[in-house]
Amino acid sequence: MNDAQTLAAHVLKGLSAPQKALSSAWFYDDEGSRLFQRIMALPEYYLTRLEHSLLIDRAEEIAHTISPNREPLDLIELGSGDGEKTLSLCRTLHDRDVDCVYRPMDVSAHALAELSRRFDSHLPRMALKPLLGDYFEHWPAVSPRRRSVAMLLGSNLGNFDEGGALGLLRRVHSQLREGDGLLLGLDLVKDPHVLQAAYDDAEGVTAAFNLNLLRRLNRELGMDFALDRFSHYASYCPLEGVARSFLVSKADQVVTSRNLQHSFDFRCGETIFTEQSQKYTPQSIEQLAQRSGFRNSQVLTDERQWYALAIWHRPADA
Ligand SMILES: C[S@@+](CC[C@H](N)C(=O)[O-])C[C@H]1O[C@@H](n2cnc3c(N)ncnc32)[C@H](O)[C@@H]1O
Repeated sequence: MNDAQTLAAHVLKGLSAPQKALSSAWFYDDEGSRLFQRIMALPEYYLTRLEHSLLIDRAEEIAHTISPNREPLDLIELGSGDGEKTLSLCRTLHDRDVDCVYRPMDVSAHALAELSRRFDSHLPRMALKPLLGDYFEHWPAVSPRRRSVAMLLGSNLGNFDEGGALGLLRRVHSQLREGDGLLLGLDLVKDPHVLQAAYDDAEGVTAAFNLNLLRRLNRELGMDFALDRFSHYASYCPLEGVARSFLVSKADQVVTSRNLQHSFDFRCGETIFTEQSQKYTPQSIEQLAQRSGFRNSQVLTDERQWYALAIWHRPADA
C-alpha cells in the first residue's frame, strides 16, 4: 500500500468506529511540521526546552555513556523532525572526535530538508545520511564496524498506547545488536495544571495543529470537513498519567470523502480521539526497559524532575 492508500484505510476504519479516532502519526504534513515548530516555542510547552537543555548541559555524560571509548557510532534518530535538539549532541560527539554518522529518519520531507539545511550551516563536517520513511517499515543500513545508538526524542514514545510503545521498543530492539544503545526522551508525571496547559495553550497553536489534521484529510482524501465546525479539546488524567487530545464536532453534521466515496455522521459533541501523551515515573521507565528487553543504563533529569533522558542498551541475549 502507498501512503494515500494507507491514509484512506486508516480514516475509513478510524471514523467508522464507535469512538472515532485518528492516529497522531498523520499530524505531520508540511503545515503540521511548521505548526509543531511553533508549539515547541510556546511558553506552556516546556518539553522541548527541558529536553534541549538536558541534551546541551549533559551532552558530555551522554556522549560518554553511548561511546565511552570514542567508539564509532551510527546515530539513528527515529522521527527526527528538524534535528535542532540533536545538533548539540552531534556537536559534542564531533568535538570529542567520535567518528559518528548521524542517520535521521522521518516521514516528513519538509522536516528532513530543514534538518539538512541546519546541519549544512552549523555542522557541515558531520556525516549526515537522512532517510525519508516510516521507522516501522524501514531501517538505515548501518555499518557492522560501528555501534548503533537509536534515539527517540520529544517524548514520542508517549504517543503510543502501552501495546504500541512495547511494539515499537521491541522493533528497535530487534534492529540493534548486543551493546547497542537507545536514547529516549520521556516526559515525567507532574502537576496536572502544568500538563493540561502544555496541551491547550492560550494562543491556540495546539488547537490549530490538531485541526490541521482535518485540513490534510480534505486535501488528500477529498473530504469536506468545515474546520470552524470542530474544536480542540485536551485533558490530562492524573490517575492514568495520560494527556489526551480530541476534535469535537460543534454540530450534527455529515462529512463526505470523494476519494473514499463514503460519508461519516457526526453528532453534536461527538469526539475524534487524535493524540495521547503518556507521562512516566522512574519506576515505569525501569519496567518498560525490562519488558522490552533493554537494560536501563542511566536516567538524566532536570532539577524539578519534569523531564527525563533515559539511556538504555541491548544486553547480551540470555
Ligand atoms: C513530535 S515530532 C518530534 C520531532 C523531534 N524528534 C523532536 O523531538 O523535536 C515527531 C516527528 O516524528 C515523525 N514521525 C512520526 N511518525 C513517524 C514514523 N512512523 N516514521 C518516521 N517518522 C515519523 C514526524 O514526521 C515528526 O517530524
